[in-house]
Amino acid sequence: MQIPGDVHAVLADARTIIRGDRVQIPFELDPVLYKRVNVMLQDVGGRWDGRKAVRAHVFPFPVEDFLRACLAAGEWPSKFEQGWYPTPPRVVFDMLEHASIRVGHTVLEPSAGVGSIAKPAAEQMGLVDCVELDPRRAHALRELGTARRVIEGDFLGLDPLAIDEPYDRVLMNPPFSNAIGHVMHALGFLRDGGTLVAVLPESVTWNTDRTTREFRELVERAEGEWVPLPADAFKPSGTSVRTVLLSLDAEPGGPLPTHGWHQRQPQQLDLFAAA
Ligand SMILES: C[S@@+](CC[C@H](N)C(=O)[O-])C[C@H]1O[C@@H](n2cnc3c(N)ncnc32)[C@H](O)[C@@H]1O
Repeated sequence: MQIPGDVHAVLADARTIIRGDRVQIPFELDPVLYKRVNVMLQDVGGRWDGRKAVRAHVFPFPVEDFLRACLAAGEWPSKFEQGWYPTPPRVVFDMLEHASIRVGHTVLEPSAGVGSIAKPAAEQMGLVDCVELDPRRAHALRELGTARRVIEGDFLGLDPLAIDEPYDRVLMNPPFSNAIGHVMHALGFLRDGGTLVAVLPESVTWNTDRTTREFRELVERAEGEWVPLPADAFKPSGTSVRTVLLSLDAEPGGPLPTHGWHQRQPQQLDLFAAA
């Protein structure tokens, strides 16, 4: 969404303090203009905290780089578009525990938002590549500067066999509207022996539609681990949706459709043709 000129002027004002997880506007605003600024800050995930010691909009993620990127672009990514719910730090911590990233591991974040997972993964010395559909979030990711590569586009449109090297780790919190589709596609980018860790809606553990049942069966055959998350794990991102972590270790020759599995398919077809 376009940032209106008067709202932009307030946020870009030298007196406005944008630091850490907060935005403070320490000067009087016309009430109508204040309301417009408030609408924008809430839409990108901020909540007004009126306590005397705070008196700021507080965000569930470090907001400084992100908001500066928005101001530079003159736009903000509405959190209600394309299922953007940044992963709260506590959940990222759990994901990283399961991922055990080692120095130099290659890591894919295929729906990277503004880097809530990608940045801490890079801080663990992973070489992180990001994909993000929303141009404004992709811009914010580039500005963040922690990813080795930022691909702006539809992850589901990328061909796993077009990459040179599969990834050691895939970390993801995909749009929940097609979470299983994103995980299945992401497995095609994972190295045999690698690990995928995903935040998923809890409904994948009990939905009875065919896609979800088949997905659970695959997870079971692969001896994947379901890790429950607290009911309010995503409260800091403004949603009460219940979530679960899925950790999948891709054993070589195992049932998961990894990059190696995709590579083996044409050979199998050739063998079939020769028979
Ligand atoms: C739930 S948010 C998570 C963002 C980030 N992974 C995080 O944890 O903070 C999902 C993100 O996926 C992006 N997205 C949705 N569909 C996508 C697609 N087909 N390809 C790449 N990114 C997509 C959205 O724009 C949004 O930023």
